[in-house]
Amino acid sequence: MPTKPDDILAIRDLEVHFEQSGSSLSRLLGRPSGTVKAVDGINITLQRGEVLGLVGESGSGKTTLGRAILGLVPATSGTITYTPPAGEGVDIATLKGATLRSMRQRLQMVFQDPSAALNPSMTLETAIGHPLVIHKVASGEELRQRVIASLERVGLSPAEQFLSKYPSDLSGGQKQRAVMARAIIVGPELVVADEPVSMLDMSVRAKVLQLMLDLKRDLGLTYVYVTHDLATAKFFCDRVAIMYLGKIVEIGPSDEIFADPKHPYTKSLLKAIPDPDPSKAIPRDLPRGEIPDAARPPKGCSFHPRCPMARNDCGWEPRDLKSLVEEHWTTTDLATFEREHELVGHLVELNTSAGEVVVEPHRGKGSPDDVWAMFSAIKDARPDEPLWRGVTSMEKTPAGVKFVFAPSSPVNLRASGASEVACVLYPSAP
Ligand SMILES: Nc1ncnc2c1ncn2[C@@H]1O[C@H](COP(=O)(O)OP(=O)(O)OP(=O)(O)O)[C@@H](O)[C@H]1O
Ligand code: SF4
Ligand SMILES: [Mg+2]
Repeated sequence: MPTKPDDILAIRDLEVHFEQSGSSLSRLLGRPSGTVKAVDGINITLQRGEVLGLVGESGSGKTTLGRAILGLVPATSGTITYTPPAGEGVDIATLKGATLRSMRQRLQMVFQDPSAALNPSMTLETAIGHPLVIHKVASGEELRQRVIASLERVGLSPAEQFLSKYPSDLSGGQKQRAVMARAIIVGPELVVADEPVSMLDMSVRAKVLQLMLDLKRDLGLTYVYVTHDLATAKFFCDRVAIMYLGKIVEIGPSDEIFADPKHPYTKSLLKAIPDPDPSKAIPRDLPRGEIPDAARPPKGCSFHPRCPMARNDCGWEPRDLKSLVEEHWTTTDLATFEREHELVGHLVELNTSAGEVVVEPHRGKGSPDDVWAMFSAIKDARPDEPLWRGVTSMEKTPAGVKFVFAPSSPVNLRASGASEVACVLYPSAP
């Protein structure tokens, strides 16, 4: 994909994988070994001056993507091309050492917790001037004047009164302003802000976000805004990318995402935005179930185990049947649970993504007829479970009960209106 002159960043096929150690301690703690695809094939082009929101639940890969953009975490594969206003593009994913460090002046990160970002034993003058000292840009009186200008710019005014203060002298909002002052003092072009207001009191969140928008306008910044909070993304972002298990499932202009969300995950996130009017408070209504283990993402569309709209071709697999039986066991009476559990055991044969599987009576206790009766009863009790759409056949065999699952369709991002959506319900235009 070619880049245009006003493109500041072009991310192509980016992957960031983490190997889980599988050490004896992690096994003891029940953590499986394997590869976590924290960022799993991301393509984004960011325009100069744009505010892009990365939104998703915990563990969707927002922070990892933000850190990779700044070269703070190594890419497993793919490219991140940063293009300065006048000059050739450079691939941040391949930069190392001094070249990467010098690039950091242009690419800054603001973290969630301003207290952790500021050294408690440094005055604001030292802390905010620190990047200029490290990069040997200014010293002496020039350094002091630039710190003063930066403090004024973020609204810590009169700046002279703040120079000798320590982080502990400041409120949360003032601390995040000081962090912004330190970020902008080196003259960056791109700022990745990772949940910059989520630890602040409600009353100061909007003010800090407004400050960030003012800085963007005055200094020509571009933002990547990482958040799990769609309400602030709506106010703050030009464009929003919804992430789920390392992938973008929907991306588009904020107006379109909020007025006409398309992906079922985006729709359920939007439903979960709390109403600002307390008298109309609705319970948070996140998608059913939990985010799956990132080291073993679901087959097909990763969202399918939680998706109310799922079709037969969304990636149903034996693991989903195991989850359904386990859910059934949490609601059934103790005697039924004990009888069924003795019959089929822990259903380890369902720990697979195979297209078909046979569930046999466990250790010869019971017969295939008993297993058939058990699954028939579960199906009768829960006929509307989306899983059954993906089971093309359930038949009794001499060994047990055989389930065959429908093959999954590909779920790549496809254009739909002004957005792009990764969902089988939105096939590409003919
Ligand atoms: N250094 C690491 N080593 C191993 N796994 C990691 C590491 N950093 C992140 N992960 C894993 O990568 C996945 C994505 O994590 P990430 O922190 O990017 O998500 P996030 O969307 O920022 O979540 P949150 O909203 O909780 O901040 C998670 O499964 C996480 O456990
Ligand atoms: S592809 Fe679409 S319909 Fe199917 S599970 Fe995923 S989000 Fe739901
Ligand atoms: Mg994060």
